Order: sequence, then structure tokens, then C-alpha cells
Amino acid sequence: MFLEKICIKKFRNIDEANLELNQKTNVIIGENAAGKTSFLEAIDVLSRGRSFRTNKTENLIKDGENQLYVGAYEGTNKKKLEIEKAKKKTKILINNKEEAKQSKLAEELAIQSIHPNSHGLVEGAPSERRSFMDWGLFHVEQNFKNEWSAYTRLLKQRNEALKIKDSEESVWKEKLAPIGENITKLRQNYIDDLKEHLIYTQQEIMPDVELEFYYDKGWPGKNSFIEALNERVKLDTERGYTSCGPQNADLKIVLNKKDAQKVCSRGQQKLIANIMLLSQSKDFLIKKKYPSIILVDDLSAELTLEMQEKVLERLFETKSQIFLTALNDSVLAEVLSEMDANVFHVEHGEIMQ
Ligand SMILES: Nc1ncnc2c1ncn2[C@@H]1O[C@H](COP(=O)(O)OP(=O)(O)O)[C@@H](O)[C@H]1O
Ligand SMILES: [Mg+2]
Repeated sequence: MFLEKICIKKFRNIDEANLELNQKTNVIIGENAAGKTSFLEAIDVLSRGRSFRTNKTENLIKDGENQLYVGAYEGTNKKKLEIEKAKKKTKILINNKEEAKQSKLAEELAIQSIHPNSHGLVEGAPSERRSFMDWGLFHVEQNFKNEWSAYTRLLKQRNEALKIKDSEESVWKEKLAPIGENITKLRQNYIDDLKEHLIYTQQEIMPDVELEFYYDKGWPGKNSFIEALNERVKLDTERGYTSCGPQNADLKIVLNKKDAQKVCSRGQQKLIANIMLLSQSKDFLIKKKYPSIILVDDLSAELTLEMQEKVLERLFETKSQIFLTALNDSVLAEVLSEMDANVFHVEHGEIMQ
């Protein structure tokens, strides 16, 4: 998939921009605080309703305005995608038809982002890595979305029963278990599929380390999910919620046989996050037969020039449509300007093509 055109209105310091995009590479160059990151955030908002920098709409709407707008034309499936967001109201249009759910836009636009906080994927809470896995599953595994909504619905019902010590909890538990097993299988298979890409990308980007990934299913030992749930009935009743299951799963990252969270430098965390995202976009391309879209904000942050170049090489290999920001006069800007790309210069929120 790729965006052919984009229109951004009243988004942070951008008043209005109408731009023709390159199917492969788009470079956004400007001084600090010009509006480069804002441009990338607008694309993210069109897909997910929030950006990699904030989930607060009020921060995204231009000061003094009531609503922001992002519209784009997606070239693979040939759809016009639009979002209008006021502080408390969102309007979504696909080919001029109103849609109720943000996930409809997310299905049309698979956006991944690499940004100065990407290291959170390694260092952050398990929820960050669950979001990573579930982003992939949402796009490449047809059943995942329905399984996951069924699971969360049942989990909520069981937790409500546990909270009031209602014996009905066991009815919900019996229903929860098989769906939890399905989700576990889907996630495990997904990680298995990613492994060959992870190994390849790691050898290219971090050849001197050993990097391993393990899916932690969210309950201990070799027990089935129902066995784990049964073992914890007393505990869960005391606590008033279900204390194990796919909602607690994690992706364990191991660097040279040690927990990556405990031993990695910030730079290593960033490289590992990049390896994970790049591998995911390759898997996406193979399974969907068209590429994803990747936003890359400020690649130079904490990566040496040599590393930036290695990541760039792998980025181009994904065949994704890529949006990259770079500071005026930086080496990265120079490298990127020499590519076959659309280059945008941003100044005080004005984007010039
Ligand atoms: N809601 C908003 N309304 C108006 N300006 C904003 C808003 N949010 C942020 N800004 C300003 O927009 C400018 C551009 O920010 P940003 O896109 O992060 O710049 P860059 O990535 O080029 O350094 C900054 O000066 C910032 O203060
Ligand atoms: Mg920025």
C-alpha cells in the first residue's frame, strides 16, 4: 500500500498542506520545531486515530482551532481515506462513506513507526511488545481480531464476576480457556514466522551479538491455560481479576543469553527495535503481497552514521513507502537528498514540495 496524495489541515503547527507523495521514499527536511514530526504524526493519526507521540487529540489540533483533518488517497486498494478529529468527536470517511470504527482505517493503512522513543519496545512494559505482536496479527491473520475481541469480552465478564465473588466466574473461565489457547497459538506462530527475518536482519545490523526472541504466553510452566486458570481460582477470587493469560503475555528478548532489558545500551535497544519493525514489515509484505508504510522520525538520534546507513539499507529492502525526517544541513539530509525521492522542506509549519 502507499499514499499518493495527502491533505493535512489544522494539525499542530501545520495550517494546510496538499502534497503529492512518492510511492517509495519521501524525505522531510527542516530546522528544529519546523513541523517535520507533525507531518509524520498526521499519517499515523489517519491510520490509528492517535500518533506515536501522543494519544491526546487536543495536543494535535492546531492551537486556537476546533478540529484537525487528514485525508489521503491510498494507491493499492484505491481508496480515499479521511479523518476529522475534534476534542471529543471523530468522523471517519472511506470513499466518502462514514464509518464508525477507527479499525476500518487501520485496516486500510498499515503504518509502522521508528522514532526517538522506539527503544521503549525493548525497555518498556510487556504491553508495548504485545502491541507490536498484535499489530502484525491484526494485519496478517484474519481470525485474530475476532478472537481477541471475544477474549477481552469474556475476560471482562469473568473479572466482574470475580470482583463480586460470584461463582458464575467458572462459566466464563470455561469459555475463556479455549479462546486464550487460540490466541496463544496465533501469537506463537506469528513469532515463529518472524524469526527468519529477525535472524537475517540482526546479522545485517548487529552481527556481533546473539539475539533470541521467546513468546511468553502469560501463564507459568507447561500447563494448559485451563489448568493455569484452575490453579489460580482462589488467588484470582481474592484479587478480583484474572491474573494470568494472553493479556499478560510478553515477548522476551535475549541478548547474548541475558535479558535484553537488563543489559542493553540505549543504542542497542534502538537497533533491536529497528530489527523487530523491519522484520515485521518483511513478513507483512510476504503475507499481504503489498508493502506497509513506515514512518522514520529522526533516525540520527543515538545511532552512529554507520548504523543509520545500515538501517536505511534494510528499510529500502522492505519495499515499503517510507517517510523520513532529517534536520537541515545534517549528513542524513545529505544522504537522503541524493536518493530518488520526493523531498519536502518544512518551515514554520509550511511544507514546500
Ligand atoms: N497543537 C499545536 N498547535 C500549534 N503548534 C503546535 C502544536 N503542537 C506543537 N506545536 C508546535 O509545532 C512545532 C513543530 O513541532 P514538530 O513537528 O515537533 O517539529 P520538528 O519535528 O520539525 O522538530 C513546534 O514549534 C511545536 O511547538
Ligand atoms: Mg521532530
